[in-house]
Amino acid sequence: MLGSSLLERCSAKGIQAVGTTRAEADVCNLDQLREKCLEIKPTHIVNCAAYTDVDGAEKDLNAAFAVNAEGAANVARIADEQGIRLVHISTDYVFAGTGSEPYREEDPCAPANVYGMSKWEGEKKVLEILPSACIVRTSWLFGSKGKNFISSLLKWFQQKEELQIVFDQCGKPTYCYDLADAVLTLLDAEGIVHFANDGERSRYQIALDLLESTKFQEIPVKCRSIVPVPSAQFPTPAVRPAYSVLDTSKYSYLTSIKPRPWGEAVNEFINEALSL
Ligand SMILES: NC(=O)c1ccc[n+]([C@@H]2O[C@H](COP(=O)([O-])OP(=O)(O)OC[C@H]3O[C@@H](n4cnc5c(N)ncnc54)[C@H](OP(=O)(O)O)[C@@H]3O)[C@@H](O)[C@H]2O)c1
Repeated sequence: MLGSSLLERCSAKGIQAVGTTRAEADVCNLDQLREKCLEIKPTHIVNCAAYTDVDGAEKDLNAAFAVNAEGAANVARIADEQGIRLVHISTDYVFAGTGSEPYREEDPCAPANVYGMSKWEGEKKVLEILPSACIVRTSWLFGSKGKNFISSLLKWFQQKEELQIVFDQCGKPTYCYDLADAVLTLLDAEGIVHFANDGERSRYQIALDLLESTKFQEIPVKCRSIVPVPSAQFPTPAVRPAYSVLDTSKYSYLTSIKPRPWGEAVNEFINEALSL
């Protein structure tokens, strides 16, 4: 999701960028990474590669740590060796999610699941190897590529008259293109920075808002009602943090940019999805 949005944004802004697939630059393969970077000679790397199957990671801990921790470390090693600046992408899931105030960059991490643990380990390794790296933590991505909550909701609205959506998980949905733009403003930043679209919501509230947007845009949907349910009603292998809201004031301080509301971004996304 993020990698392709970033390439599109670079192309729109006239920034020369090369996207690499896992086959071309496997972050678990240090030699291949080194060769690829010697060939491309980038000034910056944005590491969007990750093991992102949150539930899968509970069963496949080794695979999650291989990519998200050791793979992230490999990218930092190569950036360090070749004098390349690095932006590494991380997640709100490094936090326990038991709080009720937006998480700031310096708040203690205590991941609730294996995916979060592997990403946190990756953050620590990256900063240990390359202290000048920038770690961008983000949350609840949506975009036209890949599976995500907003795209799933839009699909379910067409298929079902009634939806049951959990009310006890709260976060900030983030549009891939907005994150891509934010990353491009942070290419030379250092340390940890949070970026998410503005507006914290429960998944239930997101579903209500999104249904409203579809009505406003006169998109025909089958869905007539959305019922709030506790997440205990839909048990998943990985525990999700109840409150994983990121405080983005450091990003605004560094860039003088306030992230736009996610609802504004979602309207743009709906138009994009409809035009596909
Ligand atoms: N999605 C979210 O809601 C969310 C929320 C917070 C943070 N993030 C973070 O944001 C970043 C981007 O996420 P995303 O949603 O764009 O992820 P994504 O769509 O799942 O893309 C991850 C990419 O990483 C590649 N990859 C996996 N293992 C690799 C390896 N060993 N070497 C090289 N590439 C490898 C995958 O390739 P294959 O297709 O070949 O597997 C895929 O193209 C990640 O760091 C993620 O942790 C995501």
